[in-house]
Amino acid sequence: MSTTRAPTDFLWGTATAAYQIEGAVSEDGRGPSVWDTFCHTPGAVERSETGDVACDHYHRWRDDVALMGDLGARAYRFSMSWPRVMPSGRGTVNAAGLDFYDRLVDGLLERDIVPFITLYHWDLPQTLQDAGGWLNRDTARALADYAAVVTRRLGDRVRHWVTLNEPFINVYNGYVEGSHAPGLKGYEHYFPVAHHLLLGHGLALQAIRSEVRETRAGVAFSLAAVEPVDDHALNVEVVPLADAFTNRICLDPVLRGEYPVELRAMMPLDLVHGGDLATIGAPTDFIGVNYYIRQLVRATPLSPMPGFEVVPPATDDLTDMGWEQYPQGLAYWLRRAHEDYPGHDLYVTESGAAFPDAPGPGGVVSDPRRIAYLRDHIGVALDALAGGVPLKGYFIWSLLDNFEWVRGFFPRFGLIYTDFATQRRTIKESGHWYSRLIATGETE
Ligand code: FCB
Repeated sequence: MSTTRAPTDFLWGTATAAYQIEGAVSEDGRGPSVWDTFCHTPGAVERSETGDVACDHYHRWRDDVALMGDLGARAYRFSMSWPRVMPSGRGTVNAAGLDFYDRLVDGLLERDIVPFITLYHWDLPQTLQDAGGWLNRDTARALADYAAVVTRRLGDRVRHWVTLNEPFINVYNGYVEGSHAPGLKGYEHYFPVAHHLLLGHGLALQAIRSEVRETRAGVAFSLAAVEPVDDHALNVEVVPLADAFTNRICLDPVLRGEYPVELRAMMPLDLVHGGDLATIGAPTDFIGVNYYIRQLVRATPLSPMPGFEVVPPATDDLTDMGWEQYPQGLAYWLRRAHEDYPGHDLYVTESGAAFPDAPGPGGVVSDPRRIAYLRDHIGVALDALAGGVPLKGYFIWSLLDNFEWVRGFFPRFGLIYTDFATQRRTIKESGHWYSRLIATGETE
């Protein structure tokens, strides 16, 4: 049990993403995104579910902000839907889309909830995908233009900006393995997509800095704790490569202005233009840590890429995502992010777990496994804070049960239960637990 108290300005919050909660996909001038296309492709998503309605947050945002107020949350990390703001990804701005986020920001500020905005959480406008998506270098420029539009409008009230959510997952799941939109497959996509996303971050950062005074900007990285499956020498030796492929591919360019040495020889020669690494590696203010998993790896032949494979966890105590519960990995990443990339504030921009919650007698949603999970993970974060790590906030994934990408509505990550048939929300016991933690500092 941790006895540390977080400082009073610590940002205790929750996180969501536009496509996972908003719905209203064809309303008020929103254009299609790659996720709309992907979800309507037969076989892509479990039970053929889609984000067409999701949590209907586009219409119910006032109630959802009120629920955040009930929780006592001090911050809210959400993403803006790029095709709601710019239906074709560039050029014409959809005033109704921008107005929606303007009202949301004001609604949060009225309740003293700090808005923490992600510009891009995977829902690329379909028009940009039709021109190659992140395989096309021009998409980086389009992200920067979109960043300029939204920060010009909201930058007087919003200081905290996340340019990209989990660029590695976007690269790997979206373009290498093909399990996420746009569903492309092939290792030849790995470096171009990564580089163009990161260049998009760098160019967007310039736009944000020129529009927002006293901004705090960064990336939310997916960070997996990579460990060898056993102590066989080859499996131990492959860990730095697997770590470079999974974690440092995005961390090192953004925070050090260079690609990991383990990967450089594999990169296409003409991909990185002069000046790109200076753009990508320009100073950022914080490191966003999205932490969920440990990744056990085993060596495989180096060709074809990547030279290792991920081995399933050797435990039955898994969440509904099939993920092991491993808070030591969060402790490891908070310490390592601070030591290896010093000079940055840290935020846990996502942490949470999916369990099979259901309303019980009296409508109470009792979720003791989530409370235990959160207590363990928040506990190690508070210990890191006590140990000198400059952790400034913690965002639980997620505010409410929502559309979990290819897994559809089955995994429930929320502090708030969503009845998807009626859109009724009920604060789970974990939500009440989080309220007490925020109010009193107690993790019991
Ligand atoms: C992360 C995503 C987020 C959510 C959680 C469970 O990889 O950023 O949208 O799906 O996983």
